[in-house]
Amino acid sequence: MFSVIDLRSDTVTKPTPAMRRAMAEAEVGDDVFGEDPTVNRLQERAAEIFEKEAALFVPTGSMGNQIAIKVHTKPGDEVIAEARSHILNYEMATPSVVSGVLIRSIRASDEGGILSWEEIEPEIHVNQPYYACPTGLICLENTHNFGGGSVMTATQTAEICHKAHELGIPVHLDGARIFNASVALGSSVAELTRYVDSVQFCLSKGLGAPVGSILLGSSEFIEQARIWRKRLGGGMRQVGVLAAAGLVALEESPKRLFLDHENAKRLAEGLANIKGVRINPERVKTNIVIFDVSDTGKTSLEVCSLLKERGILAIAFGKFIRMVTHYDISRQDIERTLQVMEEILNDNIH
Ligand SMILES: Cc1ncc(COP(=O)(O)O)c(C=O)c1O
Repeated sequence: MFSVIDLRSDTVTKPTPAMRRAMAEAEVGDDVFGEDPTVNRLQERAAEIFEKEAALFVPTGSMGNQIAIKVHTKPGDEVIAEARSHILNYEMATPSVVSGVLIRSIRASDEGGILSWEEIEPEIHVNQPYYACPTGLICLENTHNFGGGSVMTATQTAEICHKAHELGIPVHLDGARIFNASVALGSSVAELTRYVDSVQFCLSKGLGAPVGSILLGSSEFIEQARIWRKRLGGGMRQVGVLAAAGLVALEESPKRLFLDHENAKRLAEGLANIKGVRINPERVKTNIVIFDVSDTGKTSLEVCSLLKERGILAIAFGKFIRMVTHYDISRQDIERTLQVMEEILNDNIH
């Protein structure tokens, strides 16, 4: 009997024993009054690691992104985001609901969804009053989730920031998995985010904390962000019990992300050898593996349903399946997944 192999996301990880201990022992206070010592420690430590002036603990990555959009823009602005970005596709149209902005989406020519300045520049509107709404913000994503965990280098990010700033446009980075990018590129998270005006990263994904994200930027930006967090219902009280797990995640988890990347690479290489599965393992740089099953004679939903019957969970979208590695996935789990994929798809071919 095999236990369930859950490859749907790196959000499914359970808190480690060290996280649970830290949660049980956390020193707490009322964070709306700024009096939770554990939250304050987490925020200070994150600001130190990212070399930003200030940080704010928020319940989710989505809230971090949406607060950033709200603080950087005014209603009627446009926000540039990549066509497959999380902000555009999976955050419930919040930019239009909360910020009153329009997303100007650009499909990156890069398969991994990494935008270049050449692609962004023609979509920018400045000084065109009365007919075009002004570009108020550019949003980037690193790693790019639905681009297959692709990474954006410090140089690529800096170039976009410098050019945007020349036009007076701020840049926000959805860095939900920025530590994965950091490990893959061998660049610190501070280097990768040096010139962005704000960045959000998730403690609750590959880093394994049960809940929480951190939003970072200038002190002035974070002061405004704190107001919007409260307005949106994100002012939490003795939330040091969660921040304690976040601190363990922040200090301990980045060191082991390379294992998730090795497992993802092995998974991609194995999948590439299965008839009908389309994936280029060269493109797999972090912990996300996306592959096309349209040549297998089965739909992605059918393949996921057959996997589920055999105790393996993955996500289908369109003709693709996404599998994400994390610390509850071992090398044996990867080998078992490949073996089951072979069985399901070979069965299909005969
Ligand atoms: C790239 C990216 N940004 C933001 C988020 C949102 O995070 P949360 O689920 O904490 O709202 C996710 C979640 O999967 C994500 O993958």
